[in-house]
This record gives sequence, structure tokens and C-alpha cells, in this order.
Amino acid sequence: MWKHLFTANFALALATPQLYRRDPVQCPIIFDGRVSQNSTPVSFNIADVSPYSTQYVKGENLTWSQIIFLPNTTTSRFDTLGVHRSLEVTINDHSLFRSGQRLQYGFRRAGLLLKDDKNAAGADAADQGVVTFHWSVRQDVSKPMNLSHEYMNVWHEKADYSGNQFTFVGGVVLPVDAAPAIDAPEEKNAWRIQNAKNEFLFRTPIRNDAWQNFAVQLDYTNK
Ligand SMILES: *[C@@H]1O[C@H](CO)[C@@H](O)[C@H](O)[C@H]1NC(C)=O
Ligand SMILES: *[C@@H]1O[C@H](CO)[C@@H](O)[C@H](O)[C@H]1NC(C)=O
Ligand SMILES: *[C@@H]1O[C@H](CO)[C@@H](O)[C@H](O)[C@H]1NC(C)=O
Repeated sequence: MWKHLFTANFALALATPQLYRRDPVQCPIIFDGRVSQNSTPVSFNIADVSPYSTQYVKGENLTWSQIIFLPNTTTSRFDTLGVHRSLEVTINDHSLFRSGQRLQYGFRRAGLLLKDDKNAAGADAADQGVVTFHWSVRQDVSKPMNLSHEYMNVWHEKADYSGNQFTFVGGVVLPVDAAPAIDAPEEKNAWRIQNAKNEFLFRTPIRNDAWQNFAVQLDYTNK
């Protein structure tokens, strides 16, 4: 059971063209998960204001303003100073999601869904052609993750819910998610990126002193 706070700050943004002035490829932003500087935690309860779904996916009795904390931290790579800020989510024993009749006791959830994302395959531009997902994470050292647990932090789920097109995980990855669940320091202190078959494509140590930036490109045409 997961009983510990999930405290990675993360800012999600898709393809930010102005950072790549020398790159001839100019990617339009499809969904922008960046948080405006004047947001408050309550902004995430309001459907017209939040960049994310106000409904899913969270503990059944919680509001987003109880889950989201807006820390004063340094500006991440895709945030603009004075325009954007990072966010932090907390998970604990109130973060149980109800799926139908059952509470899902196996894990704790505080998942932010980009609000304009449509589920059906090909239903929006993020599901067509070649798209790139960008995100940055930074640890709050005053509230560390317990890396004996698996933290599934960013993923793109298949429309039929049969799996993920990619997954970004930290900590000890459970056997059900394709790892041997070895609780050893070099195993657990790592971020990993998995493909649609849950194969590990990339790993890098989790840092406590800096932002870490990631990107994954999906090609829906030549898959
Ligand atoms: C961040 O800093 C501002 C200005 O100093 C302060 O008003 C605010 O309470 C701080 N927020 C947090 C979460 O510490
Ligand atoms: C939510 O509240 C209901 C009613 O009090 C309670 O039965 C349920 O267990 C609560 N859910 C969680 C995840 O705490
Ligand atoms: C971290 O999680 C493991 C496995 O659940 C548990 O045995 C350990 O006590 C936890 N550590 C802390 C510091 O809470």
C-alpha cells in the first residue's frame, strides 16, 4: 500500500516553439498544462480556469485545492519567469479513487488530465501524426518520496485502457509493470521511461538538487 506523500513538482507542457529558435521544426502547442503565475490552488477546482480536468483522477472526497500546492521554487525549463509557476501534488490515504463500486486500495491517485484531451484514438491532434510530450520534475526535499514504492508520474494511456503508450516511473517498479521490484538503492533511485510494451527505454538517477527535463515523441503514423 502506498502511504507516502508524492511530492514531485511538475509542470507539463507540450512543444514550446520559442525555446528552439534555431530548430527549423516549429511545433504548435496542442495542449498546454503550464500553470499561470496568478493561479491559486482553488483555480484547479474551476473547470473554466484550470488547464486540467476538475473531475479526474483523484481521491473521491478531495477537491483539487486540497491536493495541489503551489511552491515557491525556481523556474523550470518550459516555464517563463513571472508568467508560469510549478505545481506540487500530494498523495496520502485520502487519495483512493473509486472505480464503480470499489475503492482502489492498491494505489493512491492524483492524476492531472489535460482538459481538452479526448479519449478516442485520433479524436484530437495529440493522437495524430508525430507528437512530443514535455515535462519537468523537481523534488521537494522537505517531503521526499518513499522510493521503495513505485511512482507513476507521467503517462499516456491507450484509448481502450489496455495499457500506456509510454510511462514515466520512479522508485521500485512493481513486477506487474515489468520490473523485478528490487528494493536496492541503485534500482529505486531512478526515473525510467517505458514503451507501450512496458520495456524500459531509458533510465537516469533521480536528482534532489535540480529540475530534470524529459520529452517523449510518439509517432502514430509509423508506429
Ligand atoms: C511564496 O512567496 C510569496 C511572496 O513572498 C508568499 O506570499 C507566498 O505565501 C509563498 N508561497 C508559498 C507556498 O510558500
Ligand atoms: C469518502 O467519504 C465516504 C463517506 O464518508 C466514505 O465512506 C469513504 O470511505 C470516503 N473515501 C475515502 C477514500 O476516504
Ligand atoms: C517506505 O516504504 C517501505 C515499503 O512500504 C516501508 O517499509 C518503509 O518503512 C517506508 N519508509 C519510510 C521512511 O516511511
